[in-house]
Amino acid sequence: MHILVTGACGFLGRRLIEALLARGQLAGTSGEATPVSQIVATDIFPEPAGLPADERVFYQAGDICDPEFVARLFAAKPGSVFHLAALVSGGAEQDFDAGMKANLTGTIHLLEAARQTGVSPRFVFTSSIATYGGDLPEVVSDEHQVTPESSYGVQKAIGELLVNDYTRKGFINGRSFRLPIIAIRPGGANSAASSWASAIIREPLSGVEYTSPVAADDRGFLLSPLKVIEGLIVGHDAPDEAWGRNRSVMMAGLSCTAKDLVDALQRVAGARVAERVRWQPDPFVRKIITTWPTQFTLDKASRIGLEADASIDNIVTQYMAEHSMEMS
Ligand SMILES: NC(=O)c1ccc[n+]([C@@H]2O[C@H](COP(=O)([O-])OP(=O)(O)OC[C@H]3O[C@@H](n4cnc5c(N)ncnc54)[C@H](O)[C@@H]3O)[C@@H](O)[C@H]2O)c1
Repeated sequence: MHILVTGACGFLGRRLIEALLARGQLAGTSGEATPVSQIVATDIFPEPAGLPADERVFYQAGDICDPEFVARLFAAKPGSVFHLAALVSGGAEQDFDAGMKANLTGTIHLLEAARQTGVSPRFVFTSSIATYGGDLPEVVSDEHQVTPESSYGVQKAIGELLVNDYTRKGFINGRSFRLPIIAIRPGGANSAASSWASAIIREPLSGVEYTSPVAADDRGFLLSPLKVIEGLIVGHDAPDEAWGRNRSVMMAGLSCTAKDLVDALQRVAGARVAERVRWQPDPFVRKIITTWPTQFTLDKASRIGLEADASIDNIVTQYMAEHSMEMS
């Protein structure tokens, strides 16, 4: 089984590759469990930053905006594609042209190259909660029409429509996942508008004061890195019937306020750590994140087998355990 992973050096790409290697098998094009024999991992960095050393992993550096490079990635006719490469929300909002290129042109190149293989690969597309916006009901159902209010959200929504159409035509077997805010992201802040949801836990834990760009009662819909990777693999393997004709799904998650996160931090790591959070709401960040819904019916996610974390405390505990930090 040959697999292609784009965005391989990113936060989720690396974890996905580790999980695929550890699992050792994945549903093949006709649904049967097939051993993972080769993973082509690609990203824009010249060297493979942080990828596991494993003889099944082959790194190819390049830009998905280059159609000839993308065509070469498909030489081995992968049976599965995980397309994670993207310019994330804040970045795509600040640089419209770069967002259009990476998120739309790049995705079109991937879809077209997948089509040319003639093997109708399973095609996982990481879309986003940012596809939602506009007038939203309190609880968003699976049938809700997306009306994004950011360039990133629009680019992801177009990607989802294309995944549906390429699937309808039999060119690919597509599966688009609308990812919640994934927290806790290690390292420094990135250009995602959702960066606060990680930093509000991560920075105080590493002894640094953190000034929150969102208000204490602003809400987010969160999922841990562990659960998102589990979900992408479960959804990749799920039968076509679980997905239906519309190949998009909102992933499961937990709805919480910024204060809920700080309270969880206090319970798990202690008051001294939680006191390192200050509040200074930033209109640029709030304008984006307050358009994202925080409650969903999630019927389709359950049918596919996608799960949320048990609690926010669990998300904090998971991060601390991964980074060998002591709980209070
Ligand atoms: N992490 C989140 O909270 C979140 C939430 C919603 C959706 N998503 C989606 O999940 C996916 C993975 O997110 P992540 O957090 O790992 O992001 P990330 O920024 O850590 O990784 C994305 C990777 O894509 C690569 N990339 C960008 N443009 C490229 C190009 N033109 N050619 C080749 N590679 C390119 C980057 O170098 C980077 O390594 C993305 O599609 C993102 O839009 C993430």
